[in-house]
Amino acid sequence: MDNERLLDAEELESDNFEASIRPQSLKEYVGQEEITSNLKVFIEAAKIRKESLDHVLLYGPPGLGKTTLAHIIANELGVNIKTASGPSIEKSGDLAAILSTLEPGDVLFIDEIHRMPRYIEEILYPAMEDFELDLVLNSDGKSRNIKIDLPPFTLVGATTRAGDITSPLRDRFGIVSKLSYYSEDELEKIVMRTSRVLEMPISSDAARLIAQRCRKTPRIANRLFKRVRDFALVYGYESINYDLASDSLKRLHVDEYGLDNIDIEYLNSLITKFNGGPVGVETIATSIGEEPSTLEDVVEPFLLQEGFIKRTQRGRVACEKSYEHLKINHYNTLF
Ligand SMILES: Nc1ncnc2c1ncn2[C@@H]1O[C@H](COP(=O)(O)OP(=O)(O)OP(=O)(O)O)[C@@H](O)[C@H]1O
Ligand SMILES: [Mg+2]
Repeated sequence: MDNERLLDAEELESDNFEASIRPQSLKEYVGQEEITSNLKVFIEAAKIRKESLDHVLLYGPPGLGKTTLAHIIANELGVNIKTASGPSIEKSGDLAAILSTLEPGDVLFIDEIHRMPRYIEEILYPAMEDFELDLVLNSDGKSRNIKIDLPPFTLVGATTRAGDITSPLRDRFGIVSKLSYYSEDELEKIVMRTSRVLEMPISSDAARLIAQRCRKTPRIANRLFKRVRDFALVYGYESINYDLASDSLKRLHVDEYGLDNIDIEYLNSLITKFNGGPVGVETIATSIGEEPSTLEDVVEPFLLQEGFIKRTQRGRVACEKSYEHLKINHYNTLF
Protein backbone atom coordinates (compact mmCIF):
# COMPACT_ATOMS: atom_id res chain seq x y z
CA MET A 1 0.00 0.00 0.00
CA ASP A 2 1.38 3.36 -1.04
CA ASN A 3 -0.67 5.42 1.35
CA GLU A 4 0.47 3.61 4.48
CA ARG A 5 1.76 6.04 7.03
CA LEU A 6 5.30 5.19 8.05
CA LEU A 7 4.85 6.52 11.57
CA ASP A 8 1.50 4.89 12.25
CA ALA A 9 1.76 2.77 15.39
CA GLU A 10 -1.04 0.51 14.17
CA GLU A 11 0.00 -2.65 12.41
CA LEU A 12 0.22 -2.16 8.63
CA GLU A 13 0.12 -4.71 5.84
CA SER A 14 3.84 -4.21 5.23
CA ASP A 15 4.60 -5.24 8.83
CA ASN A 16 4.22 -8.91 7.92
CA PHE A 17 7.87 -9.38 8.83
CA GLU A 18 6.89 -8.85 12.48
CA ALA A 19 6.53 -12.51 13.31
CA SER A 20 10.15 -13.22 12.44
CA ILE A 21 11.56 -10.50 14.67
CA ARG A 22 9.25 -11.06 17.60
CA PRO A 23 11.12 -11.99 20.76
CA GLN A 24 10.15 -15.49 21.92
CA SER A 25 11.03 -15.41 25.60
CA LEU A 26 10.84 -13.04 28.56
CA LYS A 27 14.62 -12.81 28.46
CA GLU A 28 14.55 -11.42 24.94
CA TYR A 29 11.68 -9.05 25.62
CA VAL A 30 13.14 -5.60 26.15
CA GLY A 31 11.80 -3.20 28.82
CA GLN A 32 8.41 -3.23 30.64
CA GLU A 33 10.47 -4.54 33.56
CA GLU A 34 7.79 -4.38 36.23
CA ILE A 35 5.38 -6.37 34.10
CA THR A 36 7.88 -9.00 33.01
CA SER A 37 9.40 -9.54 36.45
CA ASN A 38 5.96 -10.06 37.98
CA LEU A 39 4.86 -12.33 35.16
CA LYS A 40 7.97 -14.40 35.67
CA VAL A 41 6.97 -15.06 39.27
CA PHE A 42 3.33 -15.83 38.44
CA ILE A 43 4.35 -18.18 35.61
CA GLU A 44 6.84 -19.95 37.84
CA ALA A 45 4.24 -20.32 40.60
CA ALA A 46 1.62 -21.68 38.20
CA LYS A 47 4.12 -24.24 36.98
CA ILE A 48 5.04 -25.33 40.50
CA ARG A 49 1.38 -25.65 41.49
CA LYS A 50 0.64 -27.34 38.17
CA GLU A 51 -2.26 -24.97 37.70
CA SER A 52 -3.19 -22.67 34.86
CA LEU A 53 -1.92 -19.10 35.11
CA ASP A 54 -4.46 -16.47 36.20
CA HIS A 55 -6.13 -14.60 33.35
CA VAL A 56 -4.05 -11.69 32.08
CA LEU A 57 -5.26 -8.38 30.64
CA LEU A 58 -2.69 -6.38 28.68
CA TYR A 59 -3.50 -2.85 27.69
CA GLY A 60 -1.71 0.06 26.11
CA PRO A 61 -1.23 1.92 22.82
CA PRO A 62 -0.65 0.02 19.56
CA GLY A 63 2.75 -1.45 18.77
CA LEU A 64 4.09 -1.68 22.33
CA GLY A 65 4.25 -5.47 22.47
CA LYS A 66 0.94 -6.89 23.70
CA THR A 67 0.63 -9.64 21.10
CA THR A 68 4.31 -10.41 21.52
CA LEU A 69 3.90 -10.76 25.27
CA ALA A 70 0.86 -13.04 24.89
CA HIS A 71 2.92 -15.45 22.79
CA ILE A 72 5.80 -15.25 25.23
CA ILE A 73 3.49 -16.14 28.13
CA ALA A 74 2.43 -19.32 26.31
CA ASN A 75 6.05 -20.14 25.45
CA GLU A 76 7.21 -19.65 29.02
CA LEU A 77 4.36 -21.80 30.33
CA GLY A 78 5.20 -24.42 27.73
CA VAL A 79 1.61 -24.55 26.44
CA ASN A 80 -0.22 -23.95 23.18
CA ILE A 81 -1.71 -20.61 22.27
CA LYS A 82 -5.00 -20.24 20.43
CA THR A 83 -5.77 -16.80 19.08
CA ALA A 84 -8.94 -14.92 18.26
CA SER A 85 -9.92 -11.30 17.99
CA GLY A 86 -12.89 -9.64 19.68
CA PRO A 87 -14.82 -8.58 16.57
CA SER A 88 -14.36 -12.01 14.92
CA ILE A 89 -16.29 -13.80 17.66
CA GLU A 90 -19.84 -13.11 16.51
CA LYS A 91 -21.82 -16.10 17.69
CA SER A 92 -21.75 -18.17 20.87
CA GLY A 93 -20.84 -21.09 18.62
CA ASP A 94 -17.66 -19.26 17.51
CA LEU A 95 -16.54 -18.98 21.10
CA ALA A 96 -17.56 -22.56 21.91
CA ALA A 97 -15.57 -23.79 18.91
CA ILE A 98 -12.40 -22.07 20.10
CA LEU A 99 -12.85 -23.09 23.73
CA SER A 100 -13.41 -26.72 22.81
CA THR A 101 -9.95 -26.94 21.23
CA LEU A 102 -8.19 -25.96 24.46
CA GLU A 103 -6.02 -28.40 26.35
CA PRO A 104 -5.32 -28.06 30.08
CA GLY A 105 -3.19 -25.01 30.79
CA ASP A 106 -3.42 -23.56 27.26
CA VAL A 107 -3.47 -19.86 26.54
CA LEU A 108 -6.42 -18.35 24.74
CA PHE A 109 -5.38 -14.97 23.35
CA ILE A 110 -8.21 -12.59 22.47
CA ASP A 111 -6.94 -9.46 20.76
CA GLU A 112 -9.07 -6.29 20.72
CA ILE A 113 -11.09 -7.80 23.52
CA HIS A 114 -12.98 -4.52 23.99
CA ARG A 115 -14.68 -5.14 20.63
CA MET A 116 -16.22 -8.45 21.64
CA PRO A 117 -20.05 -8.44 21.53
CA ARG A 118 -21.64 -8.05 24.94
CA TYR A 119 -23.52 -11.37 24.92
CA ILE A 120 -20.31 -13.22 24.06
CA GLU A 121 -18.68 -11.50 27.00
CA GLU A 122 -21.39 -12.91 29.26
CA ILE A 123 -20.69 -16.44 28.06
CA LEU A 124 -17.07 -15.84 28.82
CA TYR A 125 -17.66 -15.01 32.51
CA PRO A 126 -18.41 -18.58 33.73
CA ALA A 127 -15.76 -19.90 31.34
CA MET A 128 -13.18 -17.67 33.02
CA GLU A 129 -14.39 -18.21 36.57
CA ASP A 130 -15.38 -21.85 36.75
CA PHE A 131 -14.11 -23.22 33.43
CA GLU A 132 -17.66 -23.90 32.48
CA LEU A 133 -19.48 -23.12 29.28
CA ASP A 134 -23.20 -22.42 29.56
CA LEU A 135 -24.85 -22.60 26.19
CA VAL A 136 -28.43 -22.29 25.07
CA LEU A 137 -29.30 -24.71 22.31
CA ASN A 138 -32.28 -24.01 20.12
CA SER A 139 -33.91 -26.86 18.29
CA ASP A 140 -37.49 -27.63 17.25
CA GLY A 141 -38.58 -24.32 18.65
CA LYS A 142 -37.42 -25.36 22.11
CA SER A 143 -34.41 -24.03 23.89
CA ARG A 144 -32.31 -26.08 26.20
CA ASN A 145 -29.46 -25.07 28.50
CA ILE A 146 -26.34 -27.17 28.48
CA LYS A 147 -23.21 -26.96 30.57
CA ILE A 148 -19.86 -28.06 29.22
CA ASP A 149 -16.80 -28.49 31.39
CA LEU A 150 -13.68 -26.85 30.07
CA PRO A 151 -10.09 -27.61 30.94
CA PRO A 152 -8.43 -24.93 33.05
CA PHE A 153 -6.97 -22.33 30.69
CA THR A 154 -5.50 -18.83 30.75
CA LEU A 155 -7.26 -16.06 28.93
CA VAL A 156 -4.88 -13.35 27.77
CA GLY A 157 -6.84 -10.32 26.59
CA ALA A 158 -5.29 -7.36 24.80
CA THR A 159 -6.76 -3.94 24.22
CA THR A 160 -5.66 -0.47 23.23
CA ARG A 161 -8.68 0.98 25.01
CA ALA A 162 -8.86 -0.08 28.63
CA GLY A 163 -11.70 2.39 29.17
CA ASP A 164 -13.90 0.42 26.81
CA ILE A 165 -13.70 -2.79 28.86
CA THR A 166 -16.72 -3.38 31.05
CA SER A 167 -15.95 -3.68 34.72
CA PRO A 168 -17.35 -7.22 35.16
CA LEU A 169 -14.95 -8.41 32.46
CA ARG A 170 -12.05 -6.46 33.85
CA ASP A 171 -12.67 -7.83 37.34
CA ARG A 172 -12.25 -11.37 36.10
CA PHE A 173 -8.62 -10.83 35.17
CA GLY A 174 -6.26 -11.71 38.00
CA ILE A 175 -3.34 -9.91 36.36
CA VAL A 176 -3.87 -6.52 34.74
CA SER A 177 -0.84 -4.89 33.13
CA LYS A 178 -0.51 -1.55 31.42
CA LEU A 179 2.29 -1.37 28.88
CA SER A 180 4.09 1.95 28.71
CA TYR A 181 6.10 3.77 26.06
CA TYR A 182 9.75 2.72 25.76
CA SER A 183 12.88 4.67 26.66
CA GLU A 184 15.54 5.50 24.06
CA ASP A 185 17.90 2.97 25.61
CA GLU A 186 15.31 0.22 25.31
CA LEU A 187 14.43 1.15 21.76
CA GLU A 188 18.10 1.18 20.81
CA LYS A 189 18.38 -2.36 22.18
CA ILE A 190 15.34 -3.42 20.18
CA VAL A 191 16.82 -1.97 16.98
CA MET A 192 20.15 -3.71 17.66
CA ARG A 193 18.32 -6.98 18.20
CA THR A 194 16.29 -6.62 14.99
CA SER A 195 19.52 -5.85 13.14
CA ARG A 196 21.00 -9.12 14.38
CA VAL A 197 17.91 -11.13 13.52
CA LEU A 198 17.68 -9.64 10.03
CA GLU A 199 21.47 -9.85 9.58
CA MET A 200 22.05 -6.22 8.68
CA PRO A 201 24.58 -4.69 11.08
CA ILE A 202 23.96 -1.18 12.40
CA SER A 203 26.23 1.13 14.38
CA SER A 204 25.04 2.07 17.84
CA ASP A 205 24.74 5.78 16.99
CA ALA A 206 22.57 4.92 13.99
CA ALA A 207 20.41 2.64 16.16
CA ARG A 208 20.14 5.51 18.64
CA LEU A 209 18.93 7.83 15.91
CA ILE A 210 16.13 5.45 14.98
CA ALA A 211 15.33 5.03 18.68
CA GLN A 212 14.89 8.80 18.98
CA ARG A 213 12.52 9.09 16.06
CA CYS A 214 10.16 6.16 16.46
CA ARG A 215 7.58 7.73 18.77
CA LYS A 216 8.73 5.51 21.64
CA THR A 217 7.15 2.54 19.88
CA PRO A 218 8.98 -0.72 19.03
CA ARG A 219 6.78 -1.40 16.01
CA ILE A 220 7.77 1.95 14.47
CA ALA A 221 11.45 1.44 15.42
CA ASN A 222 11.44 -1.87 13.55
CA ARG A 223 9.65 -0.35 10.60
CA LEU A 224 12.12 2.54 10.35
CA PHE A 225 14.99 0.06 10.63
CA LYS A 226 13.54 -1.92 7.77
CA ARG A 227 13.22 1.12 5.52
CA VAL A 228 16.74 2.28 6.29
CA ARG A 229 17.90 -1.24 5.50
CA ASP A 230 16.33 -0.83 2.03
CA PHE A 231 18.47 2.26 1.44
CA ALA A 232 21.55 0.32 2.61
CA LEU A 233 20.79 -2.50 0.22
CA VAL A 234 20.18 -0.31 -2.81
CA TYR A 235 23.21 1.92 -2.20
CA GLY A 236 25.50 -1.04 -1.57
CA TYR A 237 26.19 -0.61 2.16
CA GLU A 238 27.00 -3.75 4.12
CA SER A 239 26.08 -2.11 7.37
CA ILE A 240 24.11 0.91 8.47
CA ASN A 241 26.08 3.87 9.79
CA TYR A 242 24.90 7.17 11.26
CA ASP A 243 25.05 9.16 8.01
CA LEU A 244 23.11 6.58 6.07
CA ALA A 245 20.45 6.37 8.78
CA SER A 246 20.23 10.14 9.02
CA ASP A 247 19.96 10.67 5.23
CA SER A 248 17.42 7.88 4.89
CA LEU A 249 15.22 9.29 7.65
CA LYS A 250 15.42 12.70 6.01
CA ARG A 251 14.26 11.20 2.74
CA LEU A 252 11.45 9.45 4.59
CA HIS A 253 10.43 12.84 6.06
CA VAL A 254 10.84 11.69 9.64
CA ASP A 255 12.17 14.60 11.69
CA GLU A 256 14.10 14.67 14.95
CA TYR A 257 10.97 14.36 17.10
CA GLY A 258 9.60 11.56 14.94
CA LEU A 259 7.09 13.92 13.35
CA ASP A 260 6.16 13.36 9.72
CA ASN A 261 4.43 15.42 7.02
CA ILE A 262 0.91 15.15 8.43
CA ASP A 263 2.04 16.19 11.91
CA ILE A 264 3.90 19.17 10.51
CA GLU A 265 0.97 20.20 8.31
CA TYR A 266 -1.32 19.93 11.31
CA LEU A 267 0.89 22.14 13.48
CA ASN A 268 1.53 24.59 10.66
CA SER A 269 -2.16 24.99 10.02
CA LEU A 270 -2.94 25.37 13.72
CA ILE A 271 -0.32 28.08 14.15
CA THR A 272 -0.40 30.01 10.89
CA LYS A 273 -4.06 29.74 9.90
CA PHE A 274 -5.67 29.75 13.31
CA ASN A 275 -3.21 31.77 15.36
CA GLY A 276 -2.32 28.76 17.44
CA GLY A 277 -5.92 28.04 18.41
CA PRO A 278 -8.13 27.33 20.19
CA VAL A 279 -9.74 25.77 17.16
CA GLY A 280 -11.89 22.69 16.62
CA VAL A 281 -10.36 19.54 15.21
CA GLU A 282 -12.92 19.52 12.36
CA THR A 283 -11.72 22.92 11.24
CA ILE A 284 -8.09 21.83 11.26
CA ALA A 285 -9.06 18.67 9.39
CA THR A 286 -10.80 20.64 6.65
CA SER A 287 -7.89 23.02 6.30
CA ILE A 288 -5.40 20.21 5.63
CA GLY A 289 -7.73 17.83 3.80
CA GLU A 290 -7.79 15.02 6.38
CA GLU A 291 -10.60 13.25 8.19
CA PRO A 292 -11.19 14.50 11.76
CA SER A 293 -11.12 10.88 12.96
CA THR A 294 -7.66 10.34 11.43
CA LEU A 295 -6.40 13.39 13.27
CA GLU A 296 -7.95 12.27 16.54
CA ASP A 297 -6.86 8.64 16.38
CA VAL A 298 -3.50 8.80 14.65
CA VAL A 299 -2.06 12.31 14.68
CA GLU A 300 -3.12 13.95 17.92
CA PRO A 301 -2.29 11.27 20.53
CA PHE A 302 1.44 11.64 19.99
CA LEU A 303 1.31 15.45 19.65
CA LEU A 304 -0.61 15.63 22.93
CA GLN A 305 1.65 13.18 24.66
CA GLU A 306 4.78 15.04 23.66
CA GLY A 307 3.34 18.43 24.59
CA PHE A 308 3.08 19.93 21.09
CA ILE A 309 -0.61 20.66 21.51
CA LYS A 310 -3.21 20.91 24.25
CA ARG A 311 -6.84 19.97 24.17
CA THR A 312 -9.09 22.61 25.77
CA GLN A 313 -12.82 23.13 26.10
CA ARG A 314 -12.75 25.52 23.15
CA GLY A 315 -10.51 23.42 20.90
CA ARG A 316 -6.89 22.60 20.16
CA VAL A 317 -4.13 24.95 21.18
CA ALA A 318 -0.51 24.92 20.00
CA CYS A 319 2.09 24.79 22.77
CA GLU A 320 5.42 26.64 22.88
CA LYS A 321 7.20 23.47 21.76
CA SER A 322 5.38 23.61 18.40
CA TYR A 323 6.42 27.20 17.76
CA GLU A 324 10.01 26.34 18.58
CA HIS A 325 9.99 23.23 16.46
CA LEU A 326 8.52 24.99 13.42
CA LYS A 327 10.78 27.98 14.11
CA ILE A 328 7.85 30.37 14.20
CA ASN A 329 8.05 33.30 16.55
CA HIS A 330 5.10 32.98 18.90
CA TYR A 331 4.62 36.70 19.37
CA ASN A 332 4.73 37.61 15.67
CA THR A 333 1.58 35.69 15.10
CA LEU A 334 -0.26 37.66 17.77
CA PHE A 335 -0.03 41.01 15.98
N1 LIG B 1 9.52 -5.47 24.44
C1 LIG B 1 9.85 -5.70 23.17
N2 LIG B 1 11.09 -6.15 22.85
C2 LIG B 1 11.42 -6.35 21.58
N3 LIG B 1 10.59 -6.17 20.53
C3 LIG B 1 9.36 -5.74 20.78
C4 LIG B 1 8.93 -5.51 22.11
N4 LIG B 1 7.65 -5.10 22.08
C5 LIG B 1 7.29 -5.09 20.78
N5 LIG B 1 8.31 -5.46 20.00
C6 LIG B 1 8.29 -5.53 18.53
O1 LIG B 1 7.29 -4.63 18.06
C7 LIG B 1 6.40 -5.29 17.18
C8 LIG B 1 4.99 -4.93 17.56
O2 LIG B 1 4.63 -5.56 18.78
P1 LIG B 1 3.19 -6.21 19.01
O3 LIG B 1 2.63 -6.70 17.72
O4 LIG B 1 3.33 -7.18 20.10
O5 LIG B 1 2.38 -4.94 19.49
P2 LIG B 1 0.89 -4.84 20.03
O6 LIG B 1 0.97 -4.13 21.33
O7 LIG B 1 0.25 -6.17 20.00
O8 LIG B 1 0.20 -3.89 18.97
P3 LIG B 1 -1.37 -3.81 18.57
O9 LIG B 1 -2.04 -3.00 19.64
O10 LIG B 1 -1.37 -3.05 17.26
O11 LIG B 1 -1.89 -5.19 18.42
C9 LIG B 1 6.69 -6.79 17.30
O12 LIG B 1 6.90 -7.36 16.04
C10 LIG B 1 7.95 -6.91 18.08
O13 LIG B 1 9.00 -7.36 17.26
MG1 LIG C 1 -1.29 -6.91 18.76
